[in-house]
Amino acid sequence: MSESPEKPAGRPVVLTCAQPTGRLHLGNYLGAVLNWGRMQDDHDCYFGIVDQHAITVPTVPAELRDNTYSCLAQYVACGLDPARSRLFVQSHVLGHTELAWILGCLCPLGQLERMTQFKDKSRKQQSVDSGLLFYPVLMAADILLYNAALVPVGDDQKQHLELARDLAQKFNHRYSETFCIPEPFLSKVGSRIMSLQDPGAKMSKSDPNHAATVFITDRPEDVRRKIMSAVTDSGAEVRSGPDKPGVTNLLSIMSACTGRPVAALESEFAGRGYGDFKKAVADAVIATLDPVRVRYDELIKDKPELSRILKAGAEQAQATAFRTLSKVHRKVGFVERPR
Ligand code: TRP
Repeated sequence: MSESPEKPAGRPVVLTCAQPTGRLHLGNYLGAVLNWGRMQDDHDCYFGIVDQHAITVPTVPAELRDNTYSCLAQYVACGLDPARSRLFVQSHVLGHTELAWILGCLCPLGQLERMTQFKDKSRKQQSVDSGLLFYPVLMAADILLYNAALVPVGDDQKQHLELARDLAQKFNHRYSETFCIPEPFLSKVGSRIMSLQDPGAKMSKSDPNHAATVFITDRPEDVRRKIMSAVTDSGAEVRSGPDKPGVTNLLSIMSACTGRPVAALESEFAGRGYGDFKKAVADAVIATLDPVRVRYDELIKDKPELSRILKAGAEQAQATAFRTLSKVHRKVGFVERPR
């Protein structure tokens, strides 16, 4: 079989997706997007913005549209490179919902009802639409459509990935070997960036305390103010440890931003007090985020460029999606589409 241009020989396929939920924060950047960017060097990467998943909970159409563009601009600014990877919007690629339907026909209802995220989300709503229940099947389709080998996900998505693996195995077993069984890729670096105001909780974009979260598009003066007002712990010693959650968090942030090990930072700041230390953390975060923000500000004003990126991403993703889908249709016994 000849290699297709979309799939250079020997490069494992990586796919990950995120909902277009507005602004990314430092935790998303250091814990996820930065690592996705690094994977582009030796993997064949697909990065999806999943608008079809977004509508499983009530959404305002104009906000969804703006957030989708903004999300794309942020990803590109963070280093996801449209020249090397496919950046696409889920609804632009025909095949996600098609494959989800077929996988849904292999998926016991009980397995969906037991998903912890479904239970959490449905508790928060008065009435629950079936899209919310079907959400993990659509996610399995996102992954299997591109035959992804590796899926970078956060802890909260591990159960969904497990379902994708089950469905791939079931399909392979019922029909014949078709899908590769995707592995989770959990990154260690920066994956636990905590709130600056409550280091017992993860940094979150919806934290009501605005000083708790650094957004990647924050101005340098705001980044500095937030870091300088971060809670620290009793004692004046700059070291990490379970009794020092605030300082530990700042050390991990600085370590992820500078690439220097925590131990090296501890010795650099030994005997120097929190003020000096926080100033250095603020400098490191600003140095990391400033180029991202500058690039974002340019891109978000350039709709034609964003549209070009989406067009190229959709075309490339679609080529792979169609190949998978025709194979799946054939195996299931659907009659070939007349051309
Ligand atoms: N459910 C994921 C989240 O909310 C987003 C997602 C959709 C995803 N499809 C995916 C993640 C496929 C990885 C692979 O974070």
